[in-house]
Amino acid sequence: MKLEPSKFYKAFAPRVTVLVTTIDVKGRVNAAPFSFAMPLSMNPPLVALGINYASNTLENISETREFVVNIPSNEIIDQVFKCSKTFPKGVSELEKTGLSKLKSSKVRPPRVAECVAWFECKLEWMHEAGDHMLVTGSVVEAEVKKELLKKNGNLDAEKARVLMHVGGNEFAVPFMI
Ligand SMILES: Cc1cc2nc3c(=O)[nH]c(=O)nc-3n(C[C@H](O)[C@H](O)[C@H](O)COP(=O)(O)O)c2cc1C
Repeated sequence: MKLEPSKFYKAFAPRVTVLVTTIDVKGRVNAAPFSFAMPLSMNPPLVALGINYASNTLENISETREFVVNIPSNEIIDQVFKCSKTFPKGVSELEKTGLSKLKSSKVRPPRVAECVAWFECKLEWMHEAGDHMLVTGSVVEAEVKKELLKKNGNLDAEKARVLMHVGGNEFAVPFMI
């Protein structure tokens, strides 16, 4: 079946969902989920996100140049989805959803304690990309829950049960083949 070209991403799924934490110039915390997200380079370590222009996340990253990419598991699916709702600037989605802050090592935005991996990022560059901004971050600190990393260095995907975004409020979790 043909898709409207503008709907191609519906078949480019499921996509790993990340929960991005930022702060505004007053230090107020913001959290929002994104699934237009990918690793971009290993050396130097770079991550890329497609972020809509209306978001507080984009405004905060533009102003404070730091963010944390948190990887949520299915255990916090409801909270992650609620973070996508529009809250006024300055209102912390973490407080609204009961998620907890964990101090980051190298950037000011906090990590989300309930997540399974964390990538602390400094803004590298941004480029307009249609109706989204392509935001790239240099990963300055990365950590994953020890029990979720296998001996071969890969993530134990089934155990981690990371949230994959299908579309809207639909999600999947991975299984190994
Ligand atoms: C699972 C999920 C994935 C999303 N992925 C993206 C995305 O990749 N890019 C984007 O601009 N918005 C995405 N959104 C919508 C944003 O989360 C939404 O615009 C949010 O209100 C932004 O919050 P903020 O204004 O606090 O930054 C997604 C929403 C959900 C539920």
